[in-house]
Amino acid sequence: MEGKVRIAVLVSGGGTNLQALIDAERTGLLRSGELVLVLSDRKDAFALERARAAGKDAFAVDRKAFSEARAFEAELLRLLRQYETELIVLAGFLYVLSKDFVSLYGHRIINIHPSLIPSFCGKGFYGLRVHEKALEYGVKVTGATVHFVNEITDGGEIIKQKAVEVSEGDTPQSLQKRVMTQAEQIILPQACEEVCRKILKGREKNECLSD
Ligand code: GRF
Repeated sequence: MEGKVRIAVLVSGGGTNLQALIDAERTGLLRSGELVLVLSDRKDAFALERARAAGKDAFAVDRKAFSEARAFEAELLRLLRQYETELIVLAGFLYVLSKDFVSLYGHRIINIHPSLIPSFCGKGFYGLRVHEKALEYGVKVTGATVHFVNEITDGGEIIKQKAVEVSEGDTPQSLQKRVMTQAEQIILPQACEEVCRKILKGREKNECLSD
């Protein structure tokens, strides 16, 4: 397969992490991969608007429109295959993919989580709740993590992390905003580029082996 790694981004919400990837592609920070597809499990996700504004093919695969998870995931897979996806990036994607789905893509799904894993992660830890728990615990430092997705929620191999100081008087909202802008939106494009470079290197090696 020629050229850059074909990336599909899965979203559910505002799409600020998707926007960081779009901007990174435009500035050349993300150059070993190209964003070919955006899928949302919610038809009203603003992330879809961001994708279309950037000229990306974007589709809502509304989870509520499917009676069963299997049919929902089959539709995701149909589109991922149609676009010959080589890497899936979960960017604020709130649906928990099944073990079967994850096993189809092996080491080719990455996720951004708004804490320093293994703190404040796993089942039920997403969005604002992560920061509420961090403040409740009284941590002085939190941050974000990009990791490979495996069958354990937030359990896969860590790719990149970035720490953020907790400020006096932080609310969950102010902390979330700082983690998003000072950590998530910086390490997700960097991690994406790193993983794509490794995929391309692996491709070259295979091509040499098969020559
Ligand atoms: C962010 O807090 C991100 O860490 C989490 O989902 C939230 C919304 O992200 N994964 P986005 O604005 O939809 O990218």
